[in-house]
Amino acid sequence: MKPEIKAFVFDAYGTLFDVHSVTKACDDFFPDKGEAISQGWRKKQLEYFFLRQVMGRYAPFDQVTLDALRYAVKEQQEELSHEQELALLDAYKKLDSYNEVKEVLSALQGRKLVVFSNGSPNMLEPLVEQSGFSSYLTDTLSVDKIKQFKPSPASYNQVLEELNVRREEVLFMSSNGWDISGAKSFGFHTAWINRNELPQEELGLTPDCVYTDLKGIVEWL
Ligand code: LAC
Repeated sequence: MKPEIKAFVFDAYGTLFDVHSVTKACDDFFPDKGEAISQGWRKKQLEYFFLRQVMGRYAPFDQVTLDALRYAVKEQQEELSHEQELALLDAYKKLDSYNEVKEVLSALQGRKLVVFSNGSPNMLEPLVEQSGFSSYLTDTLSVDKIKQFKPSPASYNQVLEELNVRREEVLFMSSNGWDISGAKSFGFHTAWINRNELPQEELGLTPDCVYTDLKGIVEWL
């Protein structure tokens, strides 16, 4: 018997949206290096917000994402023009959504459906809008409001305050093992959307459920 869930909370990047849908745009600018740049971009983006959180040097996700892009291009011994920066950051606001997302959001209508992301509002809002998900969602929350990145406890606590729910009333869904671990540590029910069938993180925190895509969460209705 699953507990009663009052808020279904979704991570954005990697969970609803495919961060590597920018690969083609990267490849157009840097032929045959698109995959390497996209992978390096995401890797460095994660590293930078983890480091900024630990150092207490918060910067909005759009800045972190630009900084990570610059590093990923330099790593490939390439140079990025200002126009290319603008074009690739724009591509990040138009990421593809995963195939099952709209179907799952439709099945959950009538419930409190919230995106909660490290993304800054100026990245999240256009992304959610262009995906067509706005009408399905109750709210889109950014850590930028409190300037504490996930997986810090303070960031997940923001969800409780903004939605007026208790942590045991939340089902949190993410494809990112670091994020699911943080949410589990905080006390949310957790569904790891293990899209790439990765091994579980070695952090002593076991997700409540593991699915290969979001369809499995209908078990929580
Ligand atoms: C998010 C990414 C960083 O918070 O997982 O949406």
